[in-house]
Amino acid sequence: MAGGEASVERVKDGATGLEKLVLRAAHGCSVEVYLYGGQVIFWENEYREQLLFVSRKASFKPPKAIRGGIQICFPQFGNHGVLEQHGFARNRLWSVDESPPPFPATASNCHIDLILKQSPEVLKIWPHSFEFRLRVALSPTGDLMLTSRIKNTNADGKPFKFRLSYHTYFLVSDISEVRIEGLETLDYLDNLQSEDRRTEQGDAVVFESEVDKVYLSAPPKIVIIDHDKKRTFELRKEGLPDVVLWNPWDMKAKTIPDFAEEEYKRMLCVGAANVEKPITLRPGEEWQGRQEISVVPSSYSSGQWDPEIIHRI
Ligand code: BG6
Repeated sequence: MAGGEASVERVKDGATGLEKLVLRAAHGCSVEVYLYGGQVIFWENEYREQLLFVSRKASFKPPKAIRGGIQICFPQFGNHGVLEQHGFARNRLWSVDESPPPFPATASNCHIDLILKQSPEVLKIWPHSFEFRLRVALSPTGDLMLTSRIKNTNADGKPFKFRLSYHTYFLVSDISEVRIEGLETLDYLDNLQSEDRRTEQGDAVVFESEVDKVYLSAPPKIVIIDHDKKRTFELRKEGLPDVVLWNPWDMKAKTIPDFAEEEYKRMLCVGAANVEKPITLRPGEEWQGRQEISVVPSSYSSGQWDPEIIHRI
């Protein structure tokens, strides 16, 4: 386990030539955030274990979004209207925000602020002025926190609507051994059934085939339990009512050029989102939302520690 102070460094990635910011917390946990897409690509715990999935076939060249990490889907989720699938934020170049406004206090002393604004090219497809500020923070214990502030800066008095998702590619040991708790009994939109609205019936969500759903009005905390790895991701959210869930499984995987066929077994996309009801901002108005992820090294069920683990502690 590495010690040392928290640090933030701006470097050019040797393999991809892209600029990235590397955040290191005191105990050796680290995060890499690319300016391209404003995207967290790597997140490592203090044992240097990777926690996010990145496809070995991922493209790091515009206009493709990087297949993995945490994609920022804005101002839309999915493929509606004239905008590209999941919006334009995930394949544009963000900047470092040199003078960010105050953000809500967090447990972190290690963070980076990015900003995305309209450009002449973006204005052609989405005719609005906006400021999208993203703070990526790493707590001393390695929790990863993403906070978004989106402001309407239109000078023409026009409101705009947006949807947003933190499309998070979790790295799992074996998808058939993964369970999600917190989504049971919720209504969801099933993208495999023309966005039909259905109700989750199981005690927990498990995976046996392709899944492409948006759970509506999900609780502020859900857990993703990786039995094989004896690791649980705890995902907390604020300001984002929904949760998106995606795994392409084997057949769909074969149709995705930047995704290797067998990789569906080692990944699961789960992310805080607002999909069902878009948010409307009038000029001058600002919205905030956040997603935090912690990793706990054990099974965890319905808020109760696994007795086996308590015994070991
Ligand atoms: C999911 C969508 O969240 O993202 C799926 O619901 C989509 O329909 C998937 O296939 C991946 O999208 P993309 O654009 O990154 O290939």
